[in-house]
Order: sequence, then C-alpha cells, then structure tokens
Amino acid sequence: MKLEDRIAIVTGAAQGIGRALALGLAGEGAHVVVADIQEDKAIETAAEIQRMGRRSLGLQVDVSVLSDLARMVERTLQEFGRIDILVNNAGIALPTPFLETTEEVWDRIIDINLKAVFFCSQFVARVMVKQGRGKIVNVASTSSFVAGRSEVPYAISKAGVRMLTAAASAELAPYHVNMNAIAPGLIRTPLTEGYFPSAEAFEARVRAKIPMGRAGTPEDLVGAVIFLCSDDADYVTGHTLVVDGGWLTQ
Ligand SMILES: NC(=O)c1ccc[n+]([C@@H]2O[C@H](COP(=O)([O-])OP(=O)(O)OC[C@H]3O[C@@H](n4cnc5c(N)ncnc54)[C@H](O)[C@@H]3O)[C@@H](O)[C@H]2O)c1
Repeated sequence: MKLEDRIAIVTGAAQGIGRALALGLAGEGAHVVVADIQEDKAIETAAEIQRMGRRSLGLQVDVSVLSDLARMVERTLQEFGRIDILVNNAGIALPTPFLETTEEVWDRIIDINLKAVFFCSQFVARVMVKQGRGKIVNVASTSSFVAGRSEVPYAISKAGVRMLTAAASAELAPYHVNMNAIAPGLIRTPLTEGYFPSAEAFEARVRAKIPMGRAGTPEDLVGAVIFLCSDDADYVTGHTLVVDGGWLTQ
C-alpha cells in the first residue's frame, strides 16, 4: 500500500468527490479526518473508513471560517499527532450570470473555493514544515483553464486555486512539502446533479464536451490523488493534473 499509516485530512468529504477521495486514501492505508460542514454525513463517511480497518474522525468544519480550520488542525494533532496529507476538496458551484451576480454570492464562492484553500493550506503547512514532510492536493477544475457560461466567480476561484498551487508550492518546496492540484472535468456528483436544469441538459453537456463520451465518476479521480499524495510524487510540485476524459483537448 502506498499510504500505509499516513494521516490525511480531506475537506468536503461527506459526499461526492471528497468522500470517494477519503475512501480511496483509506484503501491505500491512510487514516483519515473527514471534515465537512455536514456533520452527520461526515460521521457516516468516517464510520465507513473505520469499517475498512483504518482510524477516522468525522468533524464539522466550515472551511471558510478560520477558527474552524484551526480547531480542525488541533483536533487532528490531538488524535493522530501529525498530518501527512491534506486534500482541499470542499467547494461549491451555482449558476451565476455575470449581470446578476450579487456581492453576497461572490463572497460566498470566493470564501469557500479560494480563501479557504489558502488558509487551510497555510495552517496545515505550518505543521508539515515542522515535520519536514507533507503532501497537499487542491481540487481545482477544468474551469481553472476554460470557463463555462454563468460561472465567472467559480472560474475565477478555480483559476485562483491553480495559481495558489503553483505560487505556494515554490515556498514550500525547501521544506519537502509538495503542493499539487487536480483539475476534474464533469464528474457526476450531488453538485453537478443539482447544477443542471435536467438530466437531458447534463447528457447534452457530456456529448458536447467529453471525447471519452461519458461523465467522470468520483472514483475516476482517486488514482491521480493517491499518486500526488504518495512518495512516487516526491519530485512533483506546483502541478495541476487534469482528469477530464479529454475535455480540454478541444
Ligand atoms: N463535480 C464536478 O463535476 C466537479 C468538477 C470540477 C471540480 N469539482 C470540485 O470538486 C469539489 C467537490 O465537488 P463535488 O462535485 O463532490 O460537490 P458536492 O457538493 O457533492 O460535495 C461538496 C462537499 O463540500 C462540502 N462543503 C461545502 N461547503 C463547505 C464548507 N463551507 N465547509 C466545509 N465543507 C463544505 C459539502 O457539504 C459537500 O459534502 C469542489 O471543490 C468542486 O468545485 C467538481
């Protein structure tokens, strides 16, 4: 196993991509802190990881609240004594036509998708720097490269995550702390099922955009994240790995 006894935190791991990543890391031997604003579902994911024979803790955390992030780091250290892996996955997307987007919606998207990735990484990296080792993986998006319609704040947040990954990785590299990102394309999750007006609209986007002819599943992302969290990626940093069934090729 590639991550035997590593201690990982995955944000937004109550459902969707984060849940699959948390289970995937546990499948490679990691013990996982499941941090999510939805407490009951976070505890459910943690229970599933425990049934796999790993240690796990479900924590209610709003990643956009700095005191919640500090408490998450403290609880993880109390319970496990170190942090080897952080996956910044929590995020939101909602349709935001440019001419109608309010300040409140702008702040919410930027706070959760970008500000939280900055400060969560900063708090955890301080621990990793002391340890002399650590792996951080941010969940960006194909929207980091090419924006869709009615998603200006989302696309800006994800482009910000891509640049944050590159810029911060250089400052962390001397401490053997790697920061990389993945850029998923269209993945079938509660988020995307709620985003499209109908199942037909979802399928139409798949046909128009994805050369592989199908939407991704959360499990399609697990291998890339395990790689970036493993010793195999010790010399990889600042990189955004696109996992999109070919979306960005066209
Ligand atoms: N689904 C896709 O097609 C797709 C594509 C590219 C990128 N992404 C990104 O992947 C990540 C996960 O998306 P998903 O599709 O699994 O979405 P999802 O809505 O199914 O899951 C997101 C999780 O994040 C949690 N969350 C939301 N706000 C939070 C907060 N303030 N604090 C803590 N937790 C919070 C939610 O409770 C939920 O469990 C997001 O960052 C999203 O932008 C998704």
